[in-house]
Amino acid sequence: MASTTRLTAEPVVAQILPEGSGTTPSLGFNGSTPGPLLRVNQGDELVVNFENRTGEPSSVHWHGIRIDNAMDGVPELTQDAVPDGGDFEYRFVTPDAGTFWYHSHSRSWEQVARGLYGPLIVEERKPPDVDADIIVMIDDWWLEEHGELRDDFDSMFHFSHGGRLGNYGKAIVSQSAVPKGDRVRLRLINTANARVFPVDVGGVEGNLVALDGMPLKTLRPIDTIHLAPAQRADIIADVTGDIEFSFWTGQEHYPLATINIEGSNPSPRTSPITPLPPNNVATTNGEADMHVTLRMQGGAMGGQHPGDDIWSFNGTSGVQDSPWLKLQRGTVVRMTMVNDTFFPHGIHLHGHHFHELDGEGSLGPLRDTSLVDARVSRDILCVFNNPGKWLLHCHTLGHSVTGLKTWVEVA
Ligand code: C2O
Ligand code: CU
Repeated sequence: MASTTRLTAEPVVAQILPEGSGTTPSLGFNGSTPGPLLRVNQGDELVVNFENRTGEPSSVHWHGIRIDNAMDGVPELTQDAVPDGGDFEYRFVTPDAGTFWYHSHSRSWEQVARGLYGPLIVEERKPPDVDADIIVMIDDWWLEEHGELRDDFDSMFHFSHGGRLGNYGKAIVSQSAVPKGDRVRLRLINTANARVFPVDVGGVEGNLVALDGMPLKTLRPIDTIHLAPAQRADIIADVTGDIEFSFWTGQEHYPLATINIEGSNPSPRTSPITPLPPNNVATTNGEADMHVTLRMQGGAMGGQHPGDDIWSFNGTSGVQDSPWLKLQRGTVVRMTMVNDTFFPHGIHLHGHHFHELDGEGSLGPLRDTSLVDARVSRDILCVFNNPGKWLLHCHTLGHSVTGLKTWVEVA
């Protein structure tokens, strides 16, 4: 089955601040930011007629989809940026069910910060039994008093520190009220260009069931969910009160959104919450064909490094003509990601999901973006089985453009 849709990237005016406090001229798709919900069935083909009317070159990346490389939307590697007034047909199969998103991959540190993104949901063949499926897109905007975006996208200060952190956090929810006793699926997506959100969710009892679109084998308690830019988390839970999303700033619980109780469900579900069916991602027992190190260096207070920009991976800043790794299809790579900087980095690999490994080397959850805190390291294990040229970069987008990116070729 194929479904066809049109996505027009264009200037929009968004209501980010509370009604009456000013509006935000920004970018969006089909008249709004976030752009329209794209919802397809697992295994279907999605055809998107993308039109660029933003006034500058752009392209669309389908974050987390194990996609045909030619459709990955990366101007440096997989296509030319689409000029203003131009269009491009994206056409790809969605092999995995889960919570994904799409966003600009051209001047992304500015275009994503301006709102050029939207949700992409791939439905399970047999979806879990819930009353409501709610999308929660979390962003943090850097706004002037009356709502205009602060016009300092190319700030060296932001690039060399934590990225373009905002002053106004907000979650846009796809449903504003819910009956008490309903069982809901909440799909959290961090669309911020820089901020790591430690998200708390109040008013529900249930479990974390998926990360970055991939079902967890074993359900987890909800607790605080640390979401790096681009990361997602799915919750299935029963509603016990107003659902409140907030994050801990270090000083206070900052409210992001509330879904209010309205009425109550006369026959709440009593069945246990169970794991989602797994996706068919290639995996191993933990054995790797090769072991590589990816060292992050640079940034403010970071000292000397050999790269020619603010940040580097293994001493090299940015995308070079030849890949960092050239791999035969199917190679299993263990990668030790070492963060030698004073800032956290959420490292995203295109076209694949990989396991995070725990201290003992056992396989943790499958992810497409791994948060590596300042001064720590983390091992991942990836079966590189998707042919093509794949970007590997920090999803703090101002870090990526100033050096924290490289690429891998799978032949
Ligand atoms: Cu979410 Cu290189 O992208
Ligand atoms: Cu970073």
